[in-house]
Amino acid sequence: MTHPPTPPPATGSAPPPGCPVTPGAEHGTRSAREASEDAGSVVRLYGEAFSADPQAVYRRLRSIGGIAPVEIAPGVQGLITTTYAAALHLLRNTSGQFAKSPQHWRALAAGEVPADSPARMMMMERNNALWKDGWEHTRLRGAISDTLLGVDLHALRGLATGSADRLIDVIAPRGSADLVGDYAARLPMAILFDLFGCPGPIGHRIVTSLDKLFDTAQDAAAANAELEGACLELTQLKRQTPGADMTSWLLAHPAQLTDAEMIQQILLLIGAGTVPSTNLIGNALTLMLTDDRFAGSVLDGAQSVGGALDYVLWNDPPMANYSPLYARQDTIYEGILIPAGVPILISFAAANTDPSLRLNDAHWAGNEAHLAFSAGAHRCPAPDLARVIAEVAVERILDRLPGLELACPAQQLGRRPGTFHSGWTALPVVFPPVAMSGDSWTPSTPPPLRTASTPPVATSTPKPAPSAPKGPRRWLSSLVAWWRGQ
Ligand code: HEM
Repeated sequence: MTHPPTPPPATGSAPPPGCPVTPGAEHGTRSAREASEDAGSVVRLYGEAFSADPQAVYRRLRSIGGIAPVEIAPGVQGLITTTYAAALHLLRNTSGQFAKSPQHWRALAAGEVPADSPARMMMMERNNALWKDGWEHTRLRGAISDTLLGVDLHALRGLATGSADRLIDVIAPRGSADLVGDYAARLPMAILFDLFGCPGPIGHRIVTSLDKLFDTAQDAAAANAELEGACLELTQLKRQTPGADMTSWLLAHPAQLTDAEMIQQILLLIGAGTVPSTNLIGNALTLMLTDDRFAGSVLDGAQSVGGALDYVLWNDPPMANYSPLYARQDTIYEGILIPAGVPILISFAAANTDPSLRLNDAHWAGNEAHLAFSAGAHRCPAPDLARVIAEVAVERILDRLPGLELACPAQQLGRRPGTFHSGWTALPVVFPPVAMSGDSWTPSTPPPLRTASTPPVATSTPKPAPSAPKGPRRWLSSLVAWWRGQ
């Protein structure tokens, strides 16, 4: 693992490439790095120490200021917000002081970001709403938000329940499962494919190529071409035969998306919709199985599942640090200089747990002022949809697997490594096996997704029940196995 560069002396020498330092700060302002030198060396947002106790890292960074310098990934320098106020300030200024487009990322333009860096993968420009500013963002986001608005949440609840039950049918007779790999990682993708009206073989190709993209031994360019090819096929299919599904609604939007734009918006929806949802479900289930305040009370109904989800969204948000922004010009925030062209991550996790908010256990339930879904122009357009999926996911597990217990000491559970996501790698559980009779579940015809004016049309063919997976695997691999019917 690369070590972070040694901070330069406060004056008299040039900063290393990509370093968020501007020498010669103006009167009364400090560069972020000067501020950090008061508190010690630049902090890593990755590695074992960070994964083991991210909140300790946020506390340390907060002592530097509302914005502090960090190493985002090995060799990638940047800044991060550490308070609620700083996060909101940046997120609400994306049409003025701060830009979303990575075209402003100077180190990337200068070829200084390692080719295989996770920061590059998560932060590079793609032709979708997430990375656009101004009218380009308005157009693409408009198409996505209008499409999402068409999803009837009541119908979604039924669809999600059917998908959750099919997954639980597989694990229920076994008496043990990994609730992340076997369940939380599979469910959001299954629901999204149904919402897209995505036929099984195309879904299979999407998942398989995603898995190849994550597998460093595979040819990433070929996998990417395969992935885009599958999304193109879905687009062309729906151009020819529209249905009551999100792909058809995106195509019918007045924005008139091209095939290339369709591919990128579908990929954005899959990426943005699945991994954070997996983390929310996994984090909530873990909370219920490990935290005394929730363990008994949610299981026996004294606390609602919604309350547990609120707690997670505040205290362990699925996207911990993301939404990289760039100052268009050198900018000062609370006396700290933010140089243009340096990525500033928004820490949703640090913002939500900012002690100046003075929140405690009495404040989480029903309180949606958290930043887990971000804020401003790029705020997640699907918080209600995400909420329904997570609520159904947790409720079905509690209903269907009574007597659920953790299969290992809580201290042995592992956090996902990395800067951006907050979740668990696995959640091994045991429970009294539930015998399934042959007719224990009925493949349901999904209810219509749109309430207003659209005739009720089924969005997908029910999938056959998958057979039991053969043990813990990486979550994407397990998805592939599921689609292959292993
Ligand atoms: C628990 C689940 C979810 C969480 C925590 C979450 C969180 C977020 C966050 C923090 C952002 C801002 C990212 C940024 O600015 O860089 C975002 C954006 C986005 N999310 Fe979600 N999300 C979730 C589920 C979903 C779902 C289910 C969908 C759609 C099916 C979705 C679609 C999107 C899209 C399209 C954007 C980009 C919006 C834009 O740039 O204008 N998300 N989400």
